Amino acid sequence: MAPETPGADLSAPLPRTAAPICPSAALAELGRHRFRVRYRGDPREAILVRFRGVAYGYLNQCVHMPKELDCEHCHVFDAAGESIRCSMHGITYAPTTGECLSEICAGESLTRLRVQERDGTLYLTEKRTTLLD
Ligand code: FES
Repeated sequence: MAPETPGADLSAPLPRTAAPICPSAALAELGRHRFRVRYRGDPREAILVRFRGVAYGYLNQCVHMPKELDCEHCHVFDAAGESIRCSMHGITYAPTTGECLSEICAGESLTRLRVQERDGTLYLTEKRTTLLD
């Protein structure tokens, strides 16, 4: 059995329920792309980020306070391009896992959404989660 891939899985078959989020070209390296989902029955803001060529999906909510990661700026990476950095108070996260890197929220993580990238398109493949307009 293949190990679980945290980012956009390039090899796994695309699930029948996969929903196209955006063209791959809409998500630049260290960029972000916002989208909306119904997650556990509630409409939520979500975000794609691209780090070292791989796309990752998360609910767009900081663990520190219920703020969107890009609420103050249109970018979500720190100046070094190594961490996701909440624009409100600067808590940082590992781009590949969503794990909080700042001491104040140690042990917490962003909520990851499974995504896949295939043939120039990024798809939402998270179970029991639907794409909203
Ligand atoms: S709300 Fe994100 S760091 Fe405070």
